[in-house]
Amino acid sequence: MSDSYQASVARSRQIEERLAVQPGDFRMLTGDRPTGALHIGHYFGSIQNRLRLQQAGAEIWQLIADYQVITDRDSVGEIQDNVRNLVLDNVAAGLDPERATFFTHSAVPALNQLLLPFLSLVSVAELQRNPTVKDEATTAGIKSISGLMLTYPVHQAADILFCKANVVPVGRDQLPHLEQTRVIARRFNERYGATFPEPDALLSSATLILGTDGTKMSKSKGNVVELRMTADETAKKLKGAKTDSDRHITYDPENRPEVANLLQIVSLCEGTDPASIAEEIGDGGGGGLKKRVTEALNETLAPLRARRAELAAEPSYVHEVLRRGNERATEMAETTLAEVREKMRMVY
Ligand code: TRP
Repeated sequence: MSDSYQASVARSRQIEERLAVQPGDFRMLTGDRPTGALHIGHYFGSIQNRLRLQQAGAEIWQLIADYQVITDRDSVGEIQDNVRNLVLDNVAAGLDPERATFFTHSAVPALNQLLLPFLSLVSVAELQRNPTVKDEATTAGIKSISGLMLTYPVHQAADILFCKANVVPVGRDQLPHLEQTRVIARRFNERYGATFPEPDALLSSATLILGTDGTKMSKSKGNVVELRMTADETAKKLKGAKTDSDRHITYDPENRPEVANLLQIVSLCEGTDPASIAEEIGDGGGGGLKKRVTEALNETLAPLRARRAELAAEPSYVHEVLRRGNERATEMAETTLAEVREKMRMVY
């Protein structure tokens, strides 16, 4: 893992360099599971990367991975609300639906059909080794892994390859899926002739932001600031944030992780370094720190929230964005599927 992680980091750096010179060479695809609204971890970790790619001029495909919702849970939950929130959050943050194609798995049959030939290219043993699938099963307390849970990384390869994306901005946990996608592309090309590019991960350089209790962000723990919260809800959430008993604020990630995390958030909002923010707060204590984080976040998110409210007030906005996106994605998937059938000599 560590060797392949180093290799991914190296490739990710090369992409950053090429992106600066030749943005038009890049087709980006990324996806979110519609299991809840986006929070500030998504914002600083991945949305800003998406916006950067969009600004650079890369082509953007934005998947709402609805079939992945039922990998680690039985019920789809509030799926319609969640899909709607994902569109609103991404568009309010700045992704332009005129340029970025927003689409859902369930509305693009030809994408899903690619799963069949791709499944023939992987072994069960290989799927059972995927560390992210194993982690997710453990976290969800799953004892008996479903067929979809085991094979969704192959479906994810279809997500990426149906549009021949060559760059996928992701966090480290997604690297096994990216590697699986590369393997599938390679094997398909070997067996049937050159068809798919081997996509690269674009790793986020942002430090991982923790929840308000200092542990991994998770909606179920109630430790997240959602993008769509009001300024008051944000203040309330941050009032309950964990700090420590030392009133003198210092930036010490090793010994004061909760305080450091809050300073990191201010730093991401203001673009200054966390140690000097700590100095400014000085003896202001946890209260002073929380006040500063609240102000910084509310100011940073204010335009996004205002835009979000405008979009949400337009009755058919989300529906229209998805209708157009699903149409574009279907066209692309049908073209790729036709090529795949041709390569597999399944044209009768
Ligand atoms: N597995 C990703 C997650 O859990 C979501 C996803 C689905 C995705 N398909 C994708 C990410 C394709 C990148 C590319 O967050």
